[in-house]
Amino acid sequence: MVKRIGVLTGGGDCPGLNAVLRAVVKTAMVKYGYEVVGFKDGYKGLVINNFITFKSGDVSGILDKGGTILGTSNRDNPFHFRVEKDGNVEYKDMSDRVADNLNMLDIDCMVLIGGDGTLTSARDFSRKGIKVVGVPKTIDNDLSATDTTFGFMTAVETATEAIDKLHSTAESHHRVMILEVMGRYAGWIAIESGIAGGADVILIPEIPYDIHRVAQKVMERKNAGKSFSIVVVAEGAKPLDGEVVVSKVISDSPDPVRLGGIGNRIAEEIEKLTRIETRVTVLGHLQRGGRPIPYDRILSTRYGVEAVELVHQEKFGTMVSLQGNTITSVSLEEAVGKLKTVPPDGELVRIAKSVGVAFGD
Ligand code: F6P
Repeated sequence: MVKRIGVLTGGGDCPGLNAVLRAVVKTAMVKYGYEVVGFKDGYKGLVINNFITFKSGDVSGILDKGGTILGTSNRDNPFHFRVEKDGNVEYKDMSDRVADNLNMLDIDCMVLIGGDGTLTSARDFSRKGIKVVGVPKTIDNDLSATDTTFGFMTAVETATEAIDKLHSTAESHHRVMILEVMGRYAGWIAIESGIAGGADVILIPEIPYDIHRVAQKVMERKNAGKSFSIVVVAEGAKPLDGEVVVSKVISDSPDPVRLGGIGNRIAEEIEKLTRIETRVTVLGHLQRGGRPIPYDRILSTRYGVEAVELVHQEKFGTMVSLQGNTITSVSLEEAVGKLKTVPPDGELVRIAKSVGVAFGD
């Protein structure tokens, strides 16, 4: 019988994390009478045993708050954990230490909230016999085993608002305005915000672009009397014969490459080819911060409640998942390691092209 559960938030933060924590803690404590322990700063807290024991009231007033009250980290992999010894850095498998900590604290199972990295470690803990349930989080929406991750729609809302604002200044100055959005190797934020914001060009990693086709679209608009254009570019977009633009490499991160900079690159090229003044906005971490929109508050609550139901039913080694409009679960073995990308011949690309959006292909 489960009596005490642990919870943590891992990976990059995203809107809705607190709403999931609230749902987990309330359902666990109020509905089932479990105790809930929260580990701080992602897997780091689990390795170094840094935790709080939730009291009723600890999760009051956090439903609409961005970030995570537990803290998070996208650098700590418990199976390859950075340790400093005598000034030297080494990486160690700390999963046995985690198992010992959980035993010592009498924790029956863990609810692990995170993206592919966090959930891959969740799967590996499950393989070691540790009872876990996963909750899929990321603004990138690139997890294949769920239709939507929480946080994604808030990021789309933020990016759409930015496009709306860029429209008015683009029009006044007769400029090309480029908005670079996040999403890593998937173009979901770019395509959804681009369609919602009425972008003229959307560049995504799934459709390598030819910059001459992009410039052609801008010139076609100019010749038709539209003296401005809006280009939304995903940070992972790349030219037909080129590579992604890397902004930095963080060597001790499980996923070391950080993308960024494509917006500036295409701005120079567009300006050269069209002679139209071009400006760039890099939306960056604004997409990860702030209040979750109602859709994400509801999705996060559904995920958090279902995670505890899975714990109660002892369905361990699983991840909650949205399929259609139904919350269900999938095995962690199936859930990780497969990137969900925008299908180049799918409906979103088709409808965007139907309303005149160019993809540079
Ligand atoms: O995965 C979420 C995400 O925001 C990506 O869209 C982005 O590429 C990356 O994290 C940024 O990571 P960091 O917060 O380490 O800069």
